[in-house]
Order: sequence, then C-alpha cells, then structure tokens
Amino acid sequence: MTAKVALVTGASKGIGRAAAVALATHGRAVACGYGSDDAGAKETVRLIEEAGGTAAAFVADVGDHEAVAAMTAAVAEELGPPVIVVANAGMNKDGLAVRYDLEDWERMLRVNLTGAFTCIRAVLPHMMKARWGRIVTVSSAIALRGNAGQSVYGASKSGLVGMTRSLAKEYAARGITANVLCPGFVETEMTSGLPDKARRALDEGIPVGRVGTVDEIAAAIRFLASDDASYVNGAVLAVDGGLTA
Ligand SMILES: NC(=O)c1ccc[n+]([C@@H]2O[C@H](COP(=O)([O-])OP(=O)(O)OC[C@H]3O[C@@H](n4cnc5c(N)ncnc54)[C@H](OP(=O)(O)O)[C@@H]3O)[C@@H](O)[C@H]2O)c1
Repeated sequence: MTAKVALVTGASKGIGRAAAVALATHGRAVACGYGSDDAGAKETVRLIEEAGGTAAAFVADVGDHEAVAAMTAAVAEELGPPVIVVANAGMNKDGLAVRYDLEDWERMLRVNLTGAFTCIRAVLPHMMKARWGRIVTVSSAIALRGNAGQSVYGASKSGLVGMTRSLAKEYAARGITANVLCPGFVETEMTSGLPDKARRALDEGIPVGRVGTVDEIAAAIRFLASDDASYVNGAVLAVDGGLTA
C-alpha cells in the first residue's frame, strides 16, 4: 500500500520538524513545507530518511496564495496527493495594542491565519477525492486564555479555532476531520531568549512544573492525523501541562 502523504508547514525546525518526523516514522510520506530556512528543511528530510521514512522539502511563504498553490501542486507531483495537512507555520511579534504597528498586524494575520486557510484549501480537493482527510491546525494556549502583549498573536490563533471547528462540520460527511491543537509554552526558536528569571516564573506557573517539548506536541499531532482519531472532529486539544486547565 502506498503511504498517505502529509503536508506539514513550518517543518524546517521546532514543532513542525518534530511533527514531520513523528508522521514519517508512523508510515506517512511527508512534504516538509518551510519559509526560508533551506538548511533546516534539509535537516528535517535527512532525519526522516535516516529513520527509513520518505520526505521532501517544499519552500513557500504561506502568506502568498500563489506560492501555496504551486507548493501543493509540486507535493502532489513529487510525493502524491496530500490528504493530511498540519497547518503549523507561524510567527510571533509581541507588543502592546496601543502602539502595535498595523503592518505587523496584517503580516501576522496573513501568515498565521490566512496562511493556514490557503494551505488547507489547497489540500482539500485531494482529501475530497480520497474521501479521507486529516486537518490539524496549530493554534496556541493564548487562544484559550489570552496574554498581555499578545492581542495580535492571540487574534490570529483564536481565528484558527473558529475556522477549524467550522471546517470540521463542513467536511465530516466526506471522511475528513479537522482539529485544533493548542500547545502551551514549548522550547523552540520562537520562544528562545527568555531571561532565566522569566523562565523560572513560567515553569512555576505551569501545573506540571516545566515547559513542553516539541516531541510532546508532535505526539498529539500524530494522533490527530491518524486513523485512530477517526471520531475526533472539531476538538480543541490543549497540550500545555495544565496551563489552561
Ligand atoms: N513554541 C511555542 O511555545 C508555541 C506555543 C504555542 C503555539 N506555537 C505555534 O506552533 C507553531 C510552530 O512554532 P515553533 O515554536 O516551532 O516555531 P519556530 O521554531 O519559530 O518555527 C516556525 C516555522 O514556521 C515557518 N514559517 C514562519 N513564517 C512562515 C511563512 N510566512 N511561510 C512559511 N513558513 C513560515 C518557519 O519556516 P522558516 O524558518 O523556514 O522560514 C519555521 O519552520 C507556530 O504556529 C506557533 O505559533 C508555538
């Protein structure tokens, strides 16, 4: 049987890389989408191939509709039609609302929210044809509880929740599920550079007493993308050590 193809955006590092590796080691052929980090994307492909899996890297700015359409066509051509999409690519720029630059607002919404929508929309026809599909969007604990300085990031991540739950109703009859994953604080490039004092305060505020690892997030993504999750649809799954409990 040929492997089902998964497109994971933001797979050049962090959560996306771990998700790509987890999916590949569970039998999926993985298209590793990325924005600009060629070396990071190559490394993800290398890790997958080293583990005996199948993967290829595909560059596209998810904020660019045409680039997303071209990337999806290239994935279908090279690996086969994608029927799993993990909309993980994202950016963050904190700032107080009162002086937040509106160009940064536009960019964040375009990458984090519109980018997820266009990637999912590009993959949906393949899922509909296969009458099977898995959509996983990577939101954030900030969509569930808010955080000072993160109104823009929070808006983009809350948008994913409403979008994904609506998709869950729109395509369920065609064997396609859509679920949202909300990670808490996870150690990646996006969250690096936190001073020790802030880091200690953060750890203490998380019920399990520590930040999460990329592999802990990837395990949940892998489950949501699996056959085992066939009756999980429209769920908002917090993987945050109890932060939003
Ligand atoms: N880390 C956390 O604590 C945390 C918590 C909650 C939610 N999240 C969410 O989880 C996701 C992954 O986060 P992470 O911590 O793994 O981040 P990361 O290490 O900074 O990686 C971000 C990934 O997104 C890609 N990306 C960014 N902008 C892009 C664009 N315009 N087009 C295509 N790809 C783009 C990057 O590609 P290039 O580097 O190749 O450009 C990179 O692969 C994000 O959506 C983030 O908001 C993270």
